[in-house]
Amino acid sequence: MAETAKLIIDGKELEFPIIEGTENEKAIDISKLRAETGYITIDPGYKNTGSTQSAITYLDGEEGILRYRGYSIEELADKADFLGVSYLLIYGELPTEEQYDDFVGKITTHTMVNEDVRKIFDGFPVNAHPMGVMSSLVSAMSGFYPDSYNDKMPDNTDTHIIRLLAKLPTIAAWCLKNSKGHPLNYPKNKLDYCSNLLQMMFAMPVEDYEVNPVVAKALNKLLILHAEHEQNCSTSTVRLVGSSKANIYSSISAGISALWGPLHGGANQEVIEMLEEIKADGGDSQKYIDKAKDKNDPFRLMGFGHRVYKNFDPRAKIIKVACDEVLEALGIDDPVLDIARQLEEAALKDEYFVKRNLYPNVDFYSGIIYRALGIPVNMFTVMFAIGRLPGWIAQWKELRENNEPIGRPRQIYTGATAREFVPIEKR
Ligand code: CMC
Repeated sequence: MAETAKLIIDGKELEFPIIEGTENEKAIDISKLRAETGYITIDPGYKNTGSTQSAITYLDGEEGILRYRGYSIEELADKADFLGVSYLLIYGELPTEEQYDDFVGKITTHTMVNEDVRKIFDGFPVNAHPMGVMSSLVSAMSGFYPDSYNDKMPDNTDTHIIRLLAKLPTIAAWCLKNSKGHPLNYPKNKLDYCSNLLQMMFAMPVEDYEVNPVVAKALNKLLILHAEHEQNCSTSTVRLVGSSKANIYSSISAGISALWGPLHGGANQEVIEMLEEIKADGGDSQKYIDKAKDKNDPFRLMGFGHRVYKNFDPRAKIIKVACDEVLEALGIDDPVLDIARQLEEAALKDEYFVKRNLYPNVDFYSGIIYRALGIPVNMFTVMFAIGRLPGWIAQWKELRENNEPIGRPRQIYTGATAREFVPIEKR
């Protein structure tokens, strides 16, 4: 007999089915709770709420395990390339050689962005944050591909997927170039995905640009590490928007906006700014550890803590090693790296952080690598978005293929009870 959970409420005993995933995670299926009892559950921040059943990513926060479609993040970061991982996430299997060549070939030939999108881009002030620009332009793309609006999965969904993967780096590079007052670069089809992105971000018309293989390799690894992370804030946003049958461009645009926040992807920018602040303040990391512990001080140690990882973030481990390798290979001695190491060491010994299971997360060292690669600080979250794109796409596709219902949480109302309207002259 299948396992159930019992609930006694208002003197009535009810049984709810238990759902079990392929890795033995268990959930109580309360989908009939309100119909049978009139009650709802309340769970601020959805800390205990599963919004879906998904076959894309497995994450065990206690053990520090992260797998995309069953493959460990450690192996993928070491052996795969970003577009191969994107294919895996979106289509469920590692591509064969033929599938890979076809996928990469299509992405390569879709990297140019409609020049009319460029006109929208030109309307932004030069200091506009690139995350706002990217979110707007991805949303604008829906206007250029109206066959993406459809309450069923459009037949050419694969083409929209290719377009998004191909064009986001081009838009990202526009943002960087524009912020420096440089002419925008067009994509170069002879280059691989990461090398092309670097070329678009850094090449100047006046001289030849050689892609440094160390930089391209590091970027490939970072994008893989960011590619998917199950039902996090931005992915849940993509799914919620997509659940209303909104098109893929609008759904991804919403995900970019959600990622921008400093508690989510925006943390990588905040980490570097925090490390710089500590350096400028004399490098006293203990002072900032104390500030983070002080409940009267709103300061948080950025790049520390995670909603689901409670022992370590496996991505942070890989990034820390990569950070040392990249800085050494590029011959860079970054003083904020020492401050980051001191902070980590001090926090890991501190009772406040130990008791609350607060460890460095993926964003703690990623900014140091991005900076070493020459990427400006306000572009860090953009790099995260390029990495996370295949994950958002995979989740949007799964939601639509499974024909999931529209997301519509409930609430407990705490406002005024019914009262009579008061005419303005009597208020
Ligand atoms: N510095 C100081 N205290 C912290 C921190 C921190 N970075 N993170 C959590 N805490 C404390 C928090 O004050 C609370 O203490 P208490 O129990 O005494 O009230 C306890 O730890 C639990 O924190 P929480 O905010 O309830 O935990 P959460 O799961 O809601 O939040 C988090 C997770 C990532 C938003 C949070 O740890 C945080 O704000 N970290 C800094 C921002 C950051 O690095 N974000 C990137 C996350 S990883 C990449 C991504 O998702 O994009």
